[in-house]
Amino acid sequence: MDLRIIILQISYIIIFAKMLAFGFISQDERKCKYLKVDRLTKVKCFDMNLREVPQFLSTSVEVLDLAFNRIKKLKRHSFKRYGKIKYLLLYENMIQSVEPETFAHLSSLQEIDLSNNALLTIPLEIFQLPSLRNLYVDSNDLINLNNDLKRLEKPIQAPLEYFNVAECGLQDLPDIGIVPYLWQINASSNPLKEITTETLATMCNLKSIDLLKTQMPICACHQILDYINIRKIKNTFLPMCQIPVGAELDECPPLYNITVGLPEYEQCNQATLSAAAKSTWLTIAGCLSGVFLVLLILLYCIRRRKRRKEKKKEMKREKKRFINPTTATTTNNIIQQDECMICDTA
Ligand SMILES: *[C@@H]1O[C@H](CO)[C@@H](O)[C@H](O)[C@H]1NC(C)=O
Ligand SMILES: *[C@@H]1O[C@H](CO)[C@@H](O)[C@H](O)[C@H]1NC(C)=O
Repeated sequence: MDLRIIILQISYIIIFAKMLAFGFISQDERKCKYLKVDRLTKVKCFDMNLREVPQFLSTSVEVLDLAFNRIKKLKRHSFKRYGKIKYLLLYENMIQSVEPETFAHLSSLQEIDLSNNALLTIPLEIFQLPSLRNLYVDSNDLINLNNDLKRLEKPIQAPLEYFNVAECGLQDLPDIGIVPYLWQINASSNPLKEITTETLATMCNLKSIDLLKTQMPICACHQILDYINIRKIKNTFLPMCQIPVGAELDECPPLYNITVGLPEYEQCNQATLSAAAKSTWLTIAGCLSGVFLVLLILLYCIRRRKRRKEKKKEMKREKKRFINPTTATTTNNIIQQDECMICDTA
């Protein structure tokens, strides 16, 4: 008897698990969690065996966590409803392809994490997102990236600050044009053969670089060390550049002077300056409009007070007139008569 019940229970569990696996139980029933994080609306659909981006979520979602699911493809409509997303977490899925215009409308998007997927490239529209600061594409085999980047419109629109391309099978840093805001790049665990000086020159504000486990050839390794030392880039994770016994380094010119002399470096510096100028102007404009607003409010208050005083005076005058009607003017009499007529008919 007992054994039968146990067998029955086990078979129920197996059937339930199968139903889950085949998607008979709809995703709606396994609800995503709603949270408030730093005043942002976060929807957590973490590790839910999802195969598609759910379409039943609140459209006010600002942080969307879809990590650890089984999403294979991102479609044009996947995020159509969620135009307010600021942080989009899609790491640890199986994303292979992204339809064009999947992200293009996400003008508030500041961070996207596509790491640990099956991407072969970075969808180029990501680089044109007007608010995007942090881009994670690490642990994807980006074999088509270099070819696709030839079609990239430069300079990119995204004010990129952080770029993670670790473990992407890259032989060189990706060339995405002038990136004056970029201060941190992670290119570790890539089979880097060289670092093109032009690409390095586009990152004139670099403060942190991770090149661990990159197997860089000895010359490229020394060049990058030279560059980093002179630029005083502090936060670095660098491979040891071991000189093989008897090797000559004379044919390996120092990188710093070459890089700094390139037009890309100059353009990046110019972009930095104009960005700083723009922000200064924005601050000044902000202060001025603040002062203007305060003045406006003050003026409004003064006028209101004045009007109130005048009203009080008038009321006093009216009272006097009411007590002593002979002082009233003829026009006032007519109005009073009119008013009385209305009173009578009412
Ligand atoms: C670079 O990325 C790899 C893989 O994501 C990570 O393990 C490593 O800690 C990162 N390095 C830095 C300095 O953040
Ligand atoms: C490289 O640039 C530095 C600083 O601008 C300068 O002192 C040095 O002489 C240059 N080296 C070469 C080989 O041009």
